Amino acid sequence: RKVAVICGGLSSEYAISLKSATTIITNFPLEYSCHRIILNEQGWWLDEQGKQTPVDLNDFSVLQPDGTRLKFDLAVVYIHGYPGEDGKVQAYLDMQGIPYLNSNPLASELSFDKWFCNQFLKNFGIPVADAVLYLTPDEHETDDVLSQTGLPCFVKPCDSGSSFGVTMVKEKSDFEPALDYAFREGKTVVVERYLKGTEVTCGAFRSPDGIVTLPPTEIVAEGDYFDFAAKYEGKSQEITPARINEQELTMVQAFTEKIYATLRLRSLARVDYIIVDGIPHLVEVNTTPGFSEASLVPQQLACAGITIRSCFDRILRAEYP
Ligand code: DAL
Ligand code: MG
Repeated sequence: RKVAVICGGLSSEYAISLKSATTIITNFPLEYSCHRIILNEQGWWLDEQGKQTPVDLNDFSVLQPDGTRLKFDLAVVYIHGYPGEDGKVQAYLDMQGIPYLNSNPLASELSFDKWFCNQFLKNFGIPVADAVLYLTPDEHETDDVLSQTGLPCFVKPCDSGSSFGVTMVKEKSDFEPALDYAFREGKTVVVERYLKGTEVTCGAFRSPDGIVTLPPTEIVAEGDYFDFAAKYEGKSQEITPARINEQELTMVQAFTEKIYATLRLRSLARVDYIIVDGIPHLVEVNTTPGFSEASLVPQQLACAGITIRSCFDRILRAEYP
């Protein structure tokens, strides 16, 4: 069985995606042969043995030196951000009739947009921060917005990851530059109330026995929040399992299971929260969670005693309602 692991992409998270894909290729169940496909500004490429061969997008195949065509039985889309985490590549695979181990286009796009996802889940009883959406940088009066969110607040592109374009704004004078910065990274921007509490994140996947939620990780950032440096340059402590009480743990895992089911997610996911006065508040849902060896979900799998290979084996055997 041939698997195309599609990685790279067209967002700022390109390099992170390549690392995640390497972990997946190294740890995939051994009865599958994984082939790395890189999607970049120049196109789609089979990238193996130091050589790049173009992918024929008419039928998602690769012409090989002996004249035969390499075709795939399954795909794993591991692009963080555009065009994978938002479901675009999955829509193409649907048109090609190629199965994939990811959430479908609808669930992916909804989950990827921080505004749509959080507003949607709020209707299902999941607590979220007060938030204001900007479609253009001059859509609202700053004072009106700050009266709803308070200071400090977060200014975030709705459609990015790894904290690219995100600012924690402490003073009103920093607000407009933060909006401009966020609009450089994303198409729409959300301004959110700052939640002070314990930051935790909880991985999940579907197995043949149902949705599995992992032991959450607690994040203690050295700076103000879990920014890029905290995520990738060691400027944070990641503690698995999180030092939270039994009741908080139950709520985090129950919310994660409910969100996974409500959004009809597939395969891996990770949901981020801030616990305020014992109540987890949703920060965001990730359908393509960071997956380098040191990333959060691999840490949680290790804590649960589940190898990455057996996690994928269980994902492959899961049945969806
Ligand atoms: N966007 C990064 C990779 C994450 O969610 O882990
Ligand atoms: Mg994210």
